[in-house]
Amino acid sequence: MVTIVGIGPGNKKFITPYALEKIKKADVLVGGRRHLKEFEDVNCEKSVINASTDYQHILNKKGNIVILASGEPSLYGITEVILEYVDESQLEIVPGISSIQYMCAKLKMTMNDLTVVSLHGRSEDLVKKVKENKKVVIFTDKAHTPQFIAALLKKANLQDRKIHVGENLSYDNERIYSFTVEELLNCSKKFDLNVVVITCGNI
Ligand SMILES: C[S@@+](CC[C@H](N)C(=O)[O-])C[C@H]1O[C@@H](n2cnc3c(N)ncnc32)[C@H](O)[C@@H]1O
Repeated sequence: MVTIVGIGPGNKKFITPYALEKIKKADVLVGGRRHLKEFEDVNCEKSVINASTDYQHILNKKGNIVILASGEPSLYGITEVILEYVDESQLEIVPGISSIQYMCAKLKMTMNDLTVVSLHGRSEDLVKKVKENKKVVIFTDKAHTPQFIAALLKKANLQDRKIHVGENLSYDNERIYSFTVEELLNCSKKFDLNVVVITCGNI
């Protein structure tokens, strides 16, 4: 049996009791180094995943295979990869709190009419999404930084938007910033793990 477990934005406080129960019962715990480190006390085989992981090899292992996924596993997460290898009847998905849900809660912003874009290892037409929607949330990566996004908005003449950056959400070093497009362009800070929210008007 394979279980994908959403472990929330990072801090263990945000893992559901059911997800923890599943992790404790794992025979093989699979995840990124950052995530496995949180469960060093779980006494089972550990398997680190990275860009060159042979998923078939891991999924052929015996027993309860539990895959740790950040945030909500099915929102631009590992679910789409695992579905290529595992039959749905052999798979359970335990939902988790997405970094996006967490960020919206911090901004006291409803998620009604929210548009989600991922620039994490993929490209999407962000400018089109921002022109068409008042609330756009973006998963970023090392190439698609908050400043990269500000530059895109400036080029598209969308300087009236506000850009909020949620960094290291739920961790002790969490920071939430709000910028105008111009302020962010002039900001030299190198942001750590982050999500970006673009709003229009008084949202
Ligand atoms: C592959 S996506 C997975 C998102 C995940 N499924 C979710 O629901 O949060 C990874 C991206 O999520 C965002 N992210 C995940 N955890 C975060 C955190 N604790 N603080 C800020 N951003 C986070 C970052 O943009 C990161 O590059």
